[in-house]
Amino acid sequence: MNAQTHSSKEIVRQARRRRTFAVISHPDAGKSTLTEALALHARVIGQAGAVHGKAGRRSTVSDWMKMEQDRGISISSAALQFEYRDCVINLIDTPGHADFSEDTYRVLSAVDCTVMLVDAAKGLEAQTMKLFEVCRHRNLPIITVINKWDRPGLDALALMDEIVDRTGMVPTPLTWPVGQSGDFRGVLDRASGAYTKFSRTDGGATIAGEEALDPASAAELEGEAWTTAQDESELLDMEGQNHDEARFLAGETTPVMFASAVLNFGVHKLLDTLVDIAPPAEARLDVAGQRRPVDSPFSGFVFKVQAGMDSHHRDRLAYVRVCSGVFERGMVVTHAQSGKPFATKYAQQVFGRDRESVDEAFPGDVVGLVNASALRVGDSLYLDEKVEYPPIPTFSPEHFMVIRAKDSSKYKQFRRGIDQLDHEGVVQVLRSDLRGDQAPVLGAVGPMQFEVAEDRMVNEFNAPCSLERLGFSLARRTVPDAVPTLARERSVEVLSRSDGELLALFSDRWRLAGVEREHPDLVLEPLVVS
Ligand code: G4P
Repeated sequence: MNAQTHSSKEIVRQARRRRTFAVISHPDAGKSTLTEALALHARVIGQAGAVHGKAGRRSTVSDWMKMEQDRGISISSAALQFEYRDCVINLIDTPGHADFSEDTYRVLSAVDCTVMLVDAAKGLEAQTMKLFEVCRHRNLPIITVINKWDRPGLDALALMDEIVDRTGMVPTPLTWPVGQSGDFRGVLDRASGAYTKFSRTDGGATIAGEEALDPASAAELEGEAWTTAQDESELLDMEGQNHDEARFLAGETTPVMFASAVLNFGVHKLLDTLVDIAPPAEARLDVAGQRRPVDSPFSGFVFKVQAGMDSHHRDRLAYVRVCSGVFERGMVVTHAQSGKPFATKYAQQVFGRDRESVDEAFPGDVVGLVNASALRVGDSLYLDEKVEYPPIPTFSPEHFMVIRAKDSSKYKQFRRGIDQLDHEGVVQVLRSDLRGDQAPVLGAVGPMQFEVAEDRMVNEFNAPCSLERLGFSLARRTVPDAVPTLARERSVEVLSRSDGELLALFSDRWRLAGVEREHPDLVLEPLVVS
């Protein structure tokens, strides 16, 4: 279908216009604020924070679940699309809370670049480092934004040292702050030597004022702050810390810029940087290691399945990253895993609470397929020419709970709810003959996933349930031959996951080490993150 309506040249052109990225950060570094500021700059919303109210805290367009609002954290992932200059920017939002890192990892499989947001006062925090590792593993180029420069924090050069020391990447600042943290006057553009002076607008609610000045005027206006910025920038020159496209794309360097998301300072520059240096949508590797050119017939993969986001939209949504060709609403594609046709009658772009039908999408874009009950995370869809993209890994659960229906007359609802949560990857569902179907075990990377599961069982599936913690904290992949031996060990249990994987659960690493010592030939493999 797409071959008729769009030429190869047009598809390639559209793919080149795409910049698909995610922001990774430790909670509270300002991710929601930055998302909002980016949207504001693209003039998607009139005034930052004006989308919907949330008691005591501004809410952002990418927060939507009631739980998120109650807790003031972002749980679900929304995709935000807007045009900027001649590009189409796709920002895939990620949950900030560490308990939902599994969701974040999945999102990272769907983007071409990441923005690492760092709190100027805190430097690189635990969650940022974890996410950074995943980006490294996936060879995702990383742009670093030092946020909250309007507040007293660390020294800019010290922050650069921290990046080198802790990530091994060479920071190549594109801008350098004029004024220390807490006295953010503007930035020196290191490529041109010019000064961008910031001026505050009311609470950052509208786009911040920016004034371009030449170095002589900057020196006159800012005095020592300007000279210091220039001196420090020269120091960076001497260290070779200048942007180099090839090294950036290879993950050896990270361009850095300074910002204050809450005041909208530096946000404009971030958008320009995404357009100028972030990679566009390119041919993606399939499961066999072949690259599928962007102008081949439509293909994509599901990186997230979600339901119950909003009481107004109680349906299931599968987020698909388009990898090649053109997605056209209504097209019938093939679901690679089952070989069955899948009609895409209801395709939506999701933007916070609002949904809009999407008629066409190009490589790099994300579409939400509604009521896609057959689709699972990692599944591929294609038109005409078969392709399967690599599976998205599931993560090693570290928390385990038995779940039981409180009301036996609601068993059918209970069963349906469990299957659904499993399908979406909200939790991993583990079963064994011994435990039976009435009391499966839920596995999670972070305990808050259980709260989401319980909330949805009650409110969405009308299946009140009780959860009981199990004393395991570690899972290893094993094989059927090992089960009889493991079954005789104390504090060890073998359960099977719905993807067919057999998991042996251990109370802690010492117990695992004990079993490994006693039975050195048993297959007990870590569940790898890739
Ligand atoms: P997150 O999504 O990464 O968790 O962070 P979020 O945007 O919610 O920001 C966390 C806090 O940091 C918020 O303050 C936010 O206003 C503040 N913040 C974000 N960017 C900046 C910045 O550039 N400068 C300063 N000074 N603060 C920033 P809060 O007190 O938790 O909420 P609020 O009541 O201010 O909204």
